[in-house]
Amino acid sequence: MKNQLKFNDGKFTIMSLGDLHENRTLDNQNKINRRRDMHNFVKTGILAFKPDLIVLLGDTLMFKDESEDFSEYKSALRDVLKPVIDSGIPFCYVLGNHEHDAGQEDLVVSAYKEIETCIGENDPTCPRGNFNCNLLVKNSEGTEDIFNLWFIDSNNVCDNQEISVYDWVHQDQIKWYEEKALEIKLSHSGKTLPAILFQHTPVIEEYQLLREAKPHEIPFCAVEGHHKFKDKKYMLKDGVDGYLGEGPCSPCYNGGQFESWKRTGDVVAAFFGHDHTNDFTGYVDGIMLGQNKTSGFCCYTDGCRSAIRITTVYENDPRNVKSKVYHFKELGLQSTCLGPIEKRITDKQSIAMHKIGYAAAGITAATALTAGAAALIRKFKKK
Ligand SMILES: [Fe+2]
Ligand SMILES: [Fe+2]
Repeated sequence: MKNQLKFNDGKFTIMSLGDLHENRTLDNQNKINRRRDMHNFVKTGILAFKPDLIVLLGDTLMFKDESEDFSEYKSALRDVLKPVIDSGIPFCYVLGNHEHDAGQEDLVVSAYKEIETCIGENDPTCPRGNFNCNLLVKNSEGTEDIFNLWFIDSNNVCDNQEISVYDWVHQDQIKWYEEKALEIKLSHSGKTLPAILFQHTPVIEEYQLLREAKPHEIPFCAVEGHHKFKDKKYMLKDGVDGYLGEGPCSPCYNGGQFESWKRTGDVVAAFFGHDHTNDFTGYVDGIMLGQNKTSGFCCYTDGCRSAIRITTVYENDPRNVKSKVYHFKELGLQSTCLGPIEKRITDKQSIAMHKIGYAAAGITAATALTAGAAALIRKFKKK
């Protein structure tokens, strides 16, 4: 089997990358610098943590439309993923809403499939989505499967924006997951293999990691909820690690995916992309939910704070997954693509500037007009 995954010396390490939103063409110096910074970050992360698997959490590189030359898309994808491919470490991915936008999902999936180190094959028996699969992980001896990984397609935006901005994992996909999980269980002597699930759009249960902000917290620390939650301001509950930069943009309709994980009992942790500034980690009903903020420099961020997530599973206790987020600066790196202010401000300062404006953040109007500051005033687009 191509690149059979296995534990090494009792542990299995995964490096996951949030939305890169990379450009297909590098037609100016700024795009070149953004690509170079991202490559430097990914390469340094690989050298530092020596992952057994790398996972891309979607919105990596979009297909423009049907008129785009497929060979150009393929070569652009290879260049975006150069440090991942050159490492020789197997990688897998999920599709983000932007990979669905052009309706060229089959071409996107085939572009990934042609890359030698890309593992995972779409299961055609799943009735919805273009890339749903699972990968089994063997023990250190390579004698038996002891862990499982799910890669689920969370689809695109919702047809009815009144119900939800973003689509959800539907009942037919959930049925596929439950049947596949049962099949895995039956073929492993009735034993449920613990699993990690990767998906682009987060489940709505992420809101259970948040609490409503108190009035005095709202101006500085709280974030507005998304869509149907927009009338409330939120903060992370005590005990939830990491950073909340925006209201989770999960679907507003709950299709029952999280409940199906609880019924099935295999998913011990789930990791998501899509929300470019969130990197929190917490537990809902015993299942770890973790956000990956962007790992690149091409979409909105909160300063020089792109991050990677390192997740470790231990062979002697595979249900007790450990996961930690590492920011660009923490790896001793310096950006070449960000402006002078973006390079220096902290997450909190950046978010404060987004929310209450430059004057309140203590920045003079003259400074705010510099290129670096102007870059911070990006409109939050569809992510
Ligand atoms: Fe997205
Ligand atoms: Fe995105």
